[in-house]
Amino acid sequence: MILPVFAYGQPVLKKKAVDIDAQYEDFSILLDNMWETMYAAHGVGIAAPQIGLAIRLFVIDTVQIMDDDKKSEGIKKVFINAQIIEETGEMWAYEEGCLSIPDIRGDVERPKKVRIQYLDENFIKHDEIYEGINARVIQHEYDHIEGILFVEKLKPLKKKLIQRKLNDIKAGKASADYKIKFARFA
Ligand code: NI
Repeated sequence: MILPVFAYGQPVLKKKAVDIDAQYEDFSILLDNMWETMYAAHGVGIAAPQIGLAIRLFVIDTVQIMDDDKKSEGIKKVFINAQIIEETGEMWAYEEGCLSIPDIRGDVERPKKVRIQYLDENFIKHDEIYEGINARVIQHEYDHIEGILFVEKLKPLKKKLIQRKLNDIKAGKASADYKIKFARFA
C-alpha cells in the first residue's frame, strides 16, 4: 500500500527515532509499504519518520541510479536500528533532495565514507563500510532517524534562498506527483 509522505513541518520529522525489535507489529507489511511508497515517489531511499513513524528504520535502493555498467555497485537494503560508528574520508558536495521537501534541492557536504552497524530485515546484525553514492544516501536517511533534514546542512546563503519555499511547504502550499501529508492545510 502506498502511504502518504509526511512533509516538512511535521513534528515526527524532527524526532530522534527509537529502536525496534523483531516483534514489531506487522513489520513485513510495513516494509512492503515503505518500498512501495518509495518507488511510487521515485525515491532512492525512505525513512520511517517520513511515513509518520519515529522508529529507526530506513530502506535504500541505489541500484536504480547507478549507470548501467555499475549496477552491481548499487545496494538495495533495509537498515534497522542503525548506528553510524564513524565517518571518514574527505568532505564532498552532492546535490540532495528529499521526498518530504518537494521541489527543493541543494548541495550538502558530507564525509565520503561511513561505517554503520545495523540489523537487516531478518534482524541479523551487520557492520559495514560504504562510500560514494551509497554512503551519501545512507547518511541522508540516517539523518532522518536522528531527526535531521538535509536543508539544515545547506550553506547559510542557500538556506536564506529557500526559506520562503520551506514556509510554503509547512503551510501546505506545495505539490508533488505523489501523496503528501502536510503539517497543516493552507
Ligand atoms: Ni529525505
